[in-house]
Amino acid sequence: MIDNNYSLGFFPTPIHPLKNLSKKYTDYNIYIKRDDHTGLASGGNKTRKLEYLIKQALDKGCNTVITAGAQQSNHCRQTAAACAIAGLECHLLLGGTAPKTYDGNLLLSSMLGAHLHFTGKNRKGEDLELLTKDLEAHNKKCYVIPYGGSNITGALGFVNAVKELKDQLTEQNLNIDYIFFASSSGGMQAGLTLGIELYKLNTQLVPINIDKDETDGLSLEAIVLNIIKDGTLLLNIQKKFTIADIPLNRDYDNPGYGVLAQDEKLAIKELAMTEGILVDPVYTGRAFYGMLHTLKGKKLPANSNVLFWHTGGFPAIFKYSNELK
Ligand SMILES: Cc1ncc(COP(=O)(O)O)c(C=O)c1O
Repeated sequence: MIDNNYSLGFFPTPIHPLKNLSKKYTDYNIYIKRDDHTGLASGGNKTRKLEYLIKQALDKGCNTVITAGAQQSNHCRQTAAACAIAGLECHLLLGGTAPKTYDGNLLLSSMLGAHLHFTGKNRKGEDLELLTKDLEAHNKKCYVIPYGGSNITGALGFVNAVKELKDQLTEQNLNIDYIFFASSSGGMQAGLTLGIELYKLNTQLVPINIDKDETDGLSLEAIVLNIIKDGTLLLNIQKKFTIADIPLNRDYDNPGYGVLAQDEKLAIKELAMTEGILVDPVYTGRAFYGMLHTLKGKKLPANSNVLFWHTGGFPAIFKYSNELK
């Protein structure tokens, strides 16, 4: 089942030390995993989920894929690219109203051939059912990908990612104590949690919450737990997970989704200017700030090996050009 995917990206993604940053924060050895290099229309973590979701869409004989997100959604941009490769029609439900000019991810989604539907205040797939009915009435066979590609099918991509990471760590004779990453729709967090249990990797996840709003009336912790429960059945995992097994650091989500705070901007520039690596203003910038703040505050044991899992988001930088220059 974990091998049953449709190849869309470049794996394994590199893992390497952040030497300059580790010299600055001398108590820690800092590493990075480069899912910004997964390919698929400029990379990102959704490539891993889409390899399983697109496979299922094709197996079910669907010819149309529908998904949803914000106008600067990386998930939507990568879904559009995956559909282009697989020969599927792609429909994206995007929050807000149609802007006069398209930029960042919105521009790329449009260039990749997706049909764009603007849905006002609904940015988390509230209108998916409505559009599906409409397209079915026009004889389309639809495959609906939930907000962020976050269900157990998509999460399998991150179960597999743990195996990839474990093999790399074995090869490099390395142990990682903490993994920091941006968690938003929950699929990545759920997949990593399942993968760590399945492949017995000795590490601790530090998911940084990005979006303080609920989805469908559920907290992110509840969403992650639901996906994990589906995963334990599918993967025959014996452990009974509870909400206590779902860590989520909510210290950094206060500015709100898509709002770039001053501290985040400084952290983005610090990484750019010490390591030549670009993180995005919505997800990875916030998660990276959360990690730096934790390290600066010496909140983890000295000499820990800390990994930042870079999940992409590069195109959104251009939407924030005034704030980042
Ligand atoms: C760049 C980036 N990082 C992290 C995430 C969070 O991943 P997940 O939605 O699986 O929690 C997203 C989700 O859209 C993203 O676009």
